Amino acid sequence: MTTLTPVLTKNWDQADSFTRAGYERDGGYKALRKAFRMEPDEIVQAVKDSGLRGRGGAGFPTGMKWGFLPPTSPNPRYLVVNADESEPGTCKDIPLMMANPHVLIEGVVISSYAIRSNVAFIYVRGEVLHVIRRLHQAVAEAYEAGYLGKDILGSGYDLDVVVHSGAGAYICGEETALLDSLEGFRGQPRLKPPFPAVAGLYSGPTVINNVESIASVPSIVGNGPDWFASMGTEKSQGFGIFSLSGHVTRPGQYEAPLGITLRELLDMAGGIREGHRLKFWTPGGSSTPIFTDEHLDVPLDFESVGAAGSMLGTRALQIFDETTCVVRAVLRWSEFYAHESCGKCTPCREGTYWYKLMLKRLESGQGTDEDLETLLDISDNILGRSFCALGDGATSPVVSSIKLFRDEYVRHFEQGACPFDPAKSTLWGGAK
Ligand SMILES: Cc1cc2nc3c(=O)[nH]c(=O)nc-3n(C[C@H](O)[C@H](O)[C@H](O)COP(=O)(O)O)c2cc1C
Ligand code: SF4
Repeated sequence: MTTLTPVLTKNWDQADSFTRAGYERDGGYKALRKAFRMEPDEIVQAVKDSGLRGRGGAGFPTGMKWGFLPPTSPNPRYLVVNADESEPGTCKDIPLMMANPHVLIEGVVISSYAIRSNVAFIYVRGEVLHVIRRLHQAVAEAYEAGYLGKDILGSGYDLDVVVHSGAGAYICGEETALLDSLEGFRGQPRLKPPFPAVAGLYSGPTVINNVESIASVPSIVGNGPDWFASMGTEKSQGFGIFSLSGHVTRPGQYEAPLGITLRELLDMAGGIREGHRLKFWTPGGSSTPIFTDEHLDVPLDFESVGAAGSMLGTRALQIFDETTCVVRAVLRWSEFYAHESCGKCTPCREGTYWYKLMLKRLESGQGTDEDLETLLDISDNILGRSFCALGDGATSPVVSSIKLFRDEYVRHFEQGACPFDPAKSTLWGGAK
């Protein structure tokens, strides 16, 4: 597989890709007209048949999720788009909303119509003010053109869209914490059940989907589920945006069928930066166990990455070359998790704090062999015992790095200092 499949990223090189006119010139909003000629349940079935799995990390089948909504309910139903994108390394939804916000809006209208919701929310990460402004502009354009509001395109269907900005907390990307935050409470995960499909936003049946999941819907409706399912692998169908960052010649977003390998993506991205070689990488962001150059040919689909010991997550491929100290990288990620832990449950609140302290000591060369065992013991106490997946995710870099690079940890305390030259790695802000 050596070709890209630009669908969501197709018009990103056009100067006006983010405007309604630019999107329409490219065939935008045609799928919406087709959707209105279909029954809502037909659209749900088409999304089921396409095999689309959630692009927000967990890979749950999107059509099946929509099918969980009860047929009737006394409370209004809602669609909530998760645009909080805060996982270290993940950078697909923000560029997508920046370059092509109308594909998301078209997806929101079709998806809301399919689940019979008349109000949709787009919950955006608070720091990305430029994206928030662009979304507001696109929503206003969509209202003006009759794609939102009352009696959309004469269909008799009404939809209002609210763009809501968070305050910049990673935990508010967890779907139930997001709902609490949207309702005006402190963003902390809710106990499940009830699941959002039954009692979500304001206790109404709610579908929560990632930006890329919803933005994929117009192309599925427009081209048919078989077209989508013809790409990717048997159980991970379709395409996705792979974000390459770090020590790679041409970092960026590469939209390709699921099942492509890092070796193939690197070929298209000009390889590792000149004169260097791959040391380790994350297949799905910092919450997924790291891989090494031994995993270059693992197909990047949900099943194959899982079988190789990690997770596809958000396809956030952070690439590190041999100048990078793995202990240092894991320390930085652990500092992030300690900072972002919401504090609701003890294993994650205390565990991530201890991670930070111990990794700091290890990175400075003051650790001991026993510290590595303690780190693994702490990990055992976080994994599977935390209230939400943030805690589990925090253990991934720690456990996988000790498994794959134990000798590098040992070198730190044997030498009494970090063996890496900060001047040689871009990660320290040093020379290229
Ligand atoms: C700490 C944490 C942060 C998350 N952040 C995001 C996020 O920014 N965007 C997202 O779509 N999903 C995020 N998720 C996953 C959501 O809980 C949820 O699974 C997802 O929005 C469902 O959408 P999908 O089925 O379309 O993938 C996060 C989960 C956790 C535990
Ligand atoms: S795992 Fe961490 S982020 Fe999740 S509820 Fe517990 S303390 Fe909060």
